[in-house]
Amino acid sequence: MKVSIFYSFIFFVSLVSQQAHAGDDCAIATAHPEATAAGCKVLRNGGNAFDAAIAVTAALSVVEPYSSGLGGGGFYLLHVADSDRDVFIDAREVAPERVSESMYLNAAGKAVPQRSREGPLAAAIPGIPAAIKHLSKYYAKLPVAFDLQPAIMLARNGFSVDPRYVRAVGWVEKRIRKFALAERIFFNQGEPYKVGEILRQPELAETLEVMAEDLDSFYHGEIAEEMVNHVISSGGNWTRKDLQNYEVKEREAVNIDFSGAKIITAPLPSSGGLVMAQVFNILEDWSYYNHDNIARSHLMVEAMRRGYNDRARFMGDPGFSNAPVKQLMSLEYARKRGQSISLDSATDSDSLPTVFDLSLEGEETTHFSIVDDDGNRVAATLSINGPFGSGMVAGNTGILLNNHMDDFSIGIGSGNAYELVGNRANGIEPGKRPLSSMSPTFVESEKGVLAIGTPGGSRIISMVMLSILEYLDPIDVDPSAVVSLARYHHQYLPDRVQVEPNGFDEAWIFELRRKGHDVQVYHRKWGNMQAVHCDLSQTKCSVLNDPRGLAGVVF
Ligand code: DON
Repeated sequence: MKVSIFYSFIFFVSLVSQQAHAGDDCAIATAHPEATAAGCKVLRNGGNAFDAAIAVTAALSVVEPYSSGLGGGGFYLLHVADSDRDVFIDAREVAPERVSESMYLNAAGKAVPQRSREGPLAAAIPGIPAAIKHLSKYYAKLPVAFDLQPAIMLARNGFSVDPRYVRAVGWVEKRIRKFALAERIFFNQGEPYKVGEILRQPELAETLEVMAEDLDSFYHGEIAEEMVNHVISSGGNWTRKDLQNYEVKEREAVNIDFSGAKIITAPLPSSGGLVMAQVFNILEDWSYYNHDNIARSHLMVEAMRRGYNDRARFMGDPGFSNAPVKQLMSLEYARKRGQSISLDSATDSDSLPTVFDLSLEGEETTHFSIVDDDGNRVAATLSINGPFGSGMVAGNTGILLNNHMDDFSIGIGSGNAYELVGNRANGIEPGKRPLSSMSPTFVESEKGVLAIGTPGGSRIISMVMLSILEYLDPIDVDPSAVVSLARYHHQYLPDRVQVEPNGFDEAWIFELRRKGHDVQVYHRKWGNMQAVHCDLSQTKCSVLNDPRGLAGVVF
């Protein structure tokens, strides 16, 4: 397979550069060169894309501890070439048994955001270790000990700290310092690490070694015991049973036909697939590509407004609440929803059906895409939610715990980290998975095959959709534009078009405002998209790294 690197890593100096070219002959896009190198090593040694996914997952838990890890969850979308089958592995965290709807509210019934974002009560039961086991047992070729080896080395010998690590620590320094174990690991003898310094995680190395011997140790053995003891003694609510009961779920991926292409993406408990289905159906009905640039953007904003409105109204863990999935996927429904769109003016979000409460999201997460020589594919988005998750490390395991309880609707009229609106469908219940926006996606069309995804909380869905719209534009586009193009976003409430800085000209902003949109240019870009694009024969693939991530950092 021939691979070209659109964003080559020539920018890297420091230790990271030694791995820079590891990706040259393998179709792996990740947020970190060390994780890419881990995946490539496994591919070169006879592993398939699923082995590489295990290696990348484990390596990311070491080198991007602020984004994802063994203490978090995620979704893996697989294409199994042999059987020409798509499989969606739901490794989302679940709420422990000892939770209640009001656990994050104060006496006045108001949400106390800190409780769902920080420390032991913020952490749901992790899913990533179960995903590793599942991938290894049913899809991978090599022993899991081999796939975990690069991560073990990175944790034991250390990795070179990069600017994204430094930035993430800067965001949540206070939170990490509240937890002595986390402070010891993620600070350099009390001082923030500097770019190029080596960060070692011996406890995590040991945990990975124990898992390499016995994957069940995470939920049933010594790792489980240590985590539960630490969570309980810190005031948390986990039990051994919560861990024993955890299981990944294989779900049917959402399939959407749009503009002659097939889009394969995330089902509930990710809202991604259902929001995308409605948006793409509305756009198809409005013949999106027949309009000029301004009208396209306006139509897209209006379609997002409606799709995210339904996210808020109906969506949650399908094991607990019944979203009208068939209806939300149907063309007739989208047509009805799209009828109220005017090409001249913005809809007022308040005119759409209301929901009860606000819920918001965190700031880091990770995505990777892999294609192997046999045509197996993986798109995976993994997260511990906010930067460094709950901030808490579970005892001597070196595992940083997520704060994904915050992705539930926490309380009526309250907000958490981002500005998404939620409903009872996403209320807190024991054993339930919090609603997600993570959307690992494949696109199959006459242009080829694209594996794509990104972090970015509620904006994940809009980012993936904008990239797909660009990619499928009947006018040929350079595939690298798919990850670099400027982003805008609308999520129903707050009723505004969020725009990346320096991405859109004055005329675009003026015209959208003239239609009545509240266009707000943000101070910072968002997302870190990692995609692999292959031609139809899948003999030539391109690795596409978002220039907003490490691929675009000069250090
Ligand atoms: O599951 C979700 O949708 C979020 N917890 C993901 C968080 C995220 O992407 C933060 N990233 N920048």
